[in-house]
Amino acid sequence: MSNSWTPDSWRKKTALQMPEYPNLEHLNDVEKEIASFPPLVFVGEAQRLKSSLARVANGEGFLLQGGDCAESFAEFSPNNIRDTFRVLLQMAVVLTFGGGLPVVKVGRLAGQFAKPRSSDVEKQGEIVLPSYRGDIVNSIDFDEIGRRPDPERLLKAYNQSASTLNLLRAFAQGGFANLEEIHRWTLGFVSNSPQGERYEELAGRLDEALRFMKACGLTAESIQQLRETDFYTSHEALLLGYEEAMTRQDTITDDGGWYSTSAHMIWIGDRTRQPDGAHVEYMQGINNPIGLKCGPSLDPEELIRLIDKLNADNEPGRLTLICRMGSENVQEKLGPLIRAVQREGKAVVWSCDPMHGNTITSSNGYKTRPFDRILSEVRGFFDIHNEEGTYAGGVHFEMTGQDVTECLGGAQAISEVSLADRYHTHCDPRLNASQALELAFLIADMLKENRGNRSTTKMAAAS
Ligand code: PEP
Ligand code: CO
Repeated sequence: MSNSWTPDSWRKKTALQMPEYPNLEHLNDVEKEIASFPPLVFVGEAQRLKSSLARVANGEGFLLQGGDCAESFAEFSPNNIRDTFRVLLQMAVVLTFGGGLPVVKVGRLAGQFAKPRSSDVEKQGEIVLPSYRGDIVNSIDFDEIGRRPDPERLLKAYNQSASTLNLLRAFAQGGFANLEEIHRWTLGFVSNSPQGERYEELAGRLDEALRFMKACGLTAESIQQLRETDFYTSHEALLLGYEEAMTRQDTITDDGGWYSTSAHMIWIGDRTRQPDGAHVEYMQGINNPIGLKCGPSLDPEELIRLIDKLNADNEPGRLTLICRMGSENVQEKLGPLIRAVQREGKAVVWSCDPMHGNTITSSNGYKTRPFDRILSEVRGFFDIHNEEGTYAGGVHFEMTGQDVTECLGGAQAISEVSLADRYHTHCDPRLNASQALELAFLIADMLKENRGNRSTTKMAAAS
């Protein structure tokens, strides 16, 4: 980090993708107010997540990151939060079984509101208005007032994030995530599907293991890890004014560093990762674990330059590279990045976002993603890491616990025609609970295969 870093030093740099607020005084007042609010997360939790991610970087854990593309004010409800949380729990159990590794669970939740857009404006007929940038900025309604960026929305997003996080903590620690409750996590519409049945079978095996442990005197009452889970939050750090207002210097642990307390982990989007830009400037000075989206236009030298800025101490767990190349590009684009990182001896977590490079428009006009392409990108990601002898450490999904019809295919065989049935997303198409669980089983199979490779690599290293 440069010596001149301060929580507001990003203001001297070029910041892409930021809304143009008509009233800057109003914005400043709101940001000041937020700066006086309690932090949403505690620094010690962010440090704990960083340690867990350091284990992932060493091949001793797996990262599962998922949730909404964009949280919305309209869909804010306890049931939505619960349903996304429980699908993530189910996926984590499936992956833990497959990989025989601890799964680090990070939600795109409790703060994932702001969206980068491919165009600053949207045109409908003759009318041109600012693009929708997420509920934290403006409204999805296509009218002049709705599309005007409104600072009051920052306050609403902060409050919604606080309530969401409160419920997530209650679920994670208050009994809902107890492994003995594993049968109760299945959502109604998934229970009769092939994945639902496969999950029940796995839950049955877990029951057996728990019964055995109980007979040995190890119960959920006595073991916290069976009774509770660690669940972390994350979002794209797009609105730097909001992040700055949530940036606090640690006074409780001995660290003394600066942290964004808006979430445990935040990431830089593929459109805002310019090495000399404002987003990179801000992110290099905070001590949270951070992510960097890596799209097909990122070249290896630039990646190394970014890593040098964002993780100057080469601290494992600090930086997760979230690769989103598209199923067709993964072989060609990812290999050179992996080789550069290896050559330079950089410690990173490699994670795969198979969503953002695989978005298409269906013939009936829906923005969608074919399940097969999503799966094919994950496969390609695992294959190339196997070829390079590196560790495929995680996955990053846009998904929901709701029974939506936004992505094509999967075992439910969602067709172009049925996209219209329940297409609710405010931004990008999400996997529904059934598709998300199906994908988790397929990835668990890949992890199982890798388990063999991992032990062979370790033995080779030891001999
Ligand atoms: C996202 O994760 O919602 C997103 C916009 O991704 P990317 O920056 O990779 O395009
Ligand atoms: Co998205």
